[in-house]
Amino acid sequence: MAASRRIIYVTSALPYANGDLHIGHLLEQIQTDIWVRYQRLRGELCLYGCADDGHGSPMMLKAEQLGVTPEALIADMKERHQRDSQDFLISHDVYHTTHSPENRHYAETIFERLSAGGYIYTKRVEQLFDPEKKMFLADRFLKGNCPRCGAEDQYGDNCEKCGATYEATELLSPRSILSGATPELRTSTHYFFDLPKLQGFLEQWTTSGTLQSEVSNKIREWLTAGLQAWDISRDAPYFGFLIPGTEDKYFYVWLDAPIGYMAALEHLVAGGGAPVTFEQIWDANSSAEVHHFIGKDIVNFHTLFWPAMLHAAGYRTPTKVHTHGFLTVDGTKMSKTRGTFINARTYLDHLDPEYLRYYFAAKLGPTTDDIDLSLDDFIARVNSDLVGKVVNIASRCAGFIHKGHDGRLAADCADPDLWQTFVDAGERIAPLFESGEFNKAVREIMALADRANQYIDTHKPWAAAKEAGREAEVQAVCTMGLNLFRVLMVYLKPILPRMAEQAEAFLQIEPLQWSDSALWLGAHAIAPFAALKQRVDPKAVAAMIEAGKASEPVKEPEPAADVRGQSPLPRESSQEEDTGMIGIDDFMKVDLRVAQIIEASHVEGADKLLQLRLNVGELGERNVFSGIRSAYEPAALQGRLVVLVANLAPRKMRFGVSEGMVLAAGEGKDIFLVAPDPDAKPGMPVK
Ligand code: MSP
Ligand code: ZN
Repeated sequence: MAASRRIIYVTSALPYANGDLHIGHLLEQIQTDIWVRYQRLRGELCLYGCADDGHGSPMMLKAEQLGVTPEALIADMKERHQRDSQDFLISHDVYHTTHSPENRHYAETIFERLSAGGYIYTKRVEQLFDPEKKMFLADRFLKGNCPRCGAEDQYGDNCEKCGATYEATELLSPRSILSGATPELRTSTHYFFDLPKLQGFLEQWTTSGTLQSEVSNKIREWLTAGLQAWDISRDAPYFGFLIPGTEDKYFYVWLDAPIGYMAALEHLVAGGGAPVTFEQIWDANSSAEVHHFIGKDIVNFHTLFWPAMLHAAGYRTPTKVHTHGFLTVDGTKMSKTRGTFINARTYLDHLDPEYLRYYFAAKLGPTTDDIDLSLDDFIARVNSDLVGKVVNIASRCAGFIHKGHDGRLAADCADPDLWQTFVDAGERIAPLFESGEFNKAVREIMALADRANQYIDTHKPWAAAKEAGREAEVQAVCTMGLNLFRVLMVYLKPILPRMAEQAEAFLQIEPLQWSDSALWLGAHAIAPFAALKQRVDPKAVAAMIEAGKASEPVKEPEPAADVRGQSPLPRESSQEEDTGMIGIDDFMKVDLRVAQIIEASHVEGADKLLQLRLNVGELGERNVFSGIRSAYEPAALQGRLVVLVANLAPRKMRFGVSEGMVLAAGEGKDIFLVAPDPDAKPGMPVK
C-alpha cells in the first residue's frame, strides 16, 4: 500500500482590501500556487486558503473618502482580487474575508484563551488625538518637523531627510494629515499581548526547522535584543471587531488578520469543500501540515506574534513559514512614473498569465532575495524556453504522426535509455519543487527539453519522411518526441496548468499526475496539433508599460509602523513609489573603511585634484584622485586618517585610475575631510 497521503493547508498572505492587486502580490500567489499544485500533482491532499484583509483605519478612511460603507468597499475589492487571482490561474480552494463571522469567532476565542492564560493586560497609553476627526492617529497620519534635524513635513515615525526614528509625540509642530488639526496628547487604555512571556517558546520554535536559516538568523538577533509586549487594541472609531467586554476598543488589524487563515479553512470545511475537519488541521496535536507563504516585510507577524498567539491559545503552530523577497522591475522598485507599477489587471489586459508564472518560477528560489522582472529577459526567456524549446518538440512531431499514421503513436519506445533519463529526472525535480527551488527545477526541465530537441535533430523525421520505406522510423521517432514532451508537461504542470491542460487535450489523455511521468504512451491516437503558446510580442509588453503609467498606484495601507522596533526585516524594496530612500541592504553594500594618507601630491593639469596614496590596512594600498585641492595643501595631509569608499568601481581618469573615493563635506575653500578619531586603524570597516 502507498504511504498515507499528507494533509497540507497552505496560505498566501491576505491582501489588504483597499487597493488592487499588483504583480508583486502575484509573485507571492504564483509561488504559493506552484507549490500547492505540485503537492496535488503528487497525490497529497493540499488545500489552499486565502482571504482579503479587510480591517483597519485605512479601510475606514478610504470608504469615507469614497462615500461608501467599509463593508461595501471591502466586498467590492474582494471580488476584484478574486477575479485577478483566478485569471492568473491561482487555485485557491477558498477565498474568504477577515470581516466574517468565522473570523470574529476565532478572534474572540483566541483572545479569551489568551486572557484566561494570563497573556493579556491593559495599560494606559499616551497618544496623539485628532480633535476634529475625533480619533487617535497612527504614525502615518501625522506629520510635523523632525525632532532631530528640523526637516519639515516628516511622518510620525521617522525622518526621510536625516533617517532619525522617533515617537510621534516627539514631532515638532505636529499636525493631522486627515484634518490638518493640531493633535492633542490624550491617554487611553490599550490591551497588550504579553509576548515576553513566550520568549522561551519562540527561541525554540524559530530554530526548529520552521524558517529559512536567513530568516531565523534575523529573528535570533531580535530575540536576543528582547521582546516587547504587543499593543493589540485600537480605539474607536476603527473598522474591525470589538474586543469582548468593551464598548469602544477594537482588535488591531494585525491581531485578527492571521486568524483569517483559520477562518478561511473553517469557511471551506463548513461549506463542504474539503474532506477534513477544522480540528484535524488546527488542533494542538494535529498531524496535518500548515504552510504560510509571505513576503519579508511581514515576517515578524508570522514568525513571532502569530506562533506565540497560537501556542498560548492552545492551537498548533505552523509547520513552515516560507518567506520571499520583493519584486523589482528592471532592477528598481516598481514605479508609476516608469510604468513599472503593474497592476494584475493591466498585465492580464496585455499578456498571457502563464508567461509570468513561468518567468517567476525560473527565478524563484528558497531565499529572501528580491526577484527582478527584467522585461527584456522576460521576453527572451519565455520565447526561447517555452516556445522555442518545449512547444517546439510537440510541433515538430505532431504533423508526421497525422500525415502518414492516422494520428496514431507507435507502440514501442525507440530509445529506452533516453526515455529512462527523462523518467529518472523526476526524482531530482520533485525535491526541488518541495524545497521551493523552482529556479533549479526549471533549469533541469529545460536541460531535458534541449535533449529532446537534440534527439529530434539527430533523427531528422522531416528527411526520413521524404523517403519511401522509412515510415515506421518516422512514427517511432515522433512517438518518442511526443512522449518526451508529455513527461516535460508533467514536470511543468504546477507552473503551467493551462498549457498542461491543452497538452492533455492534444494527446487525448486524462489529467496528468506526477506518477504519469513514468508511463509510456504507445499505440494511442492523438488530436490535431494546435499551437500551445504564442511568442511574447514585445509590443504587448510596451503597451502594458504605457498602460501602467496611466493606472492608479496602490499605496501601502497599514505599514508595520505600529510595531516599530519589532520589525526585524523592514520593507526594504516595497511597492511604493521611488522616494530616493534606500534600504539598509543597499547601504550595507557600501564598503566604508578607515584609510591613512601615506602621501598626497598635486596632479599635473588638474587644478581641482590631489592624488592620494592610501594605506587601507588589510585591503592594501589604494590610489585615489580627490577633488580637495582648493582646501588642502598636500604636505598637511600626510598621515591623516580619512574614510574611504573602498568598493567603488575603479574609474579611469586622464591621470590614472582612481580606486575609491574619500568622504568630504562642502565645496571650494570650505571642503572638510571626514576623519575618524586618531586611534582608528587603517582598514577598519566604518558602519
Ligand atoms: N494584509 C497584510 C498581510 C496579512 S497576512 C495575515 C499585507 N497585505 S499586503 O497587501 O500589503 O501584502 C500581501 C502580501 O504581498 C505580503 O506577503 C507582501 O509581502 C506581498 N507583497 C506586497 N508587495 C510585494 C512586492 N512588491 N513584491 C513581493 N511581494 C509583495 O501585508
Ligand atoms: Zn530629520
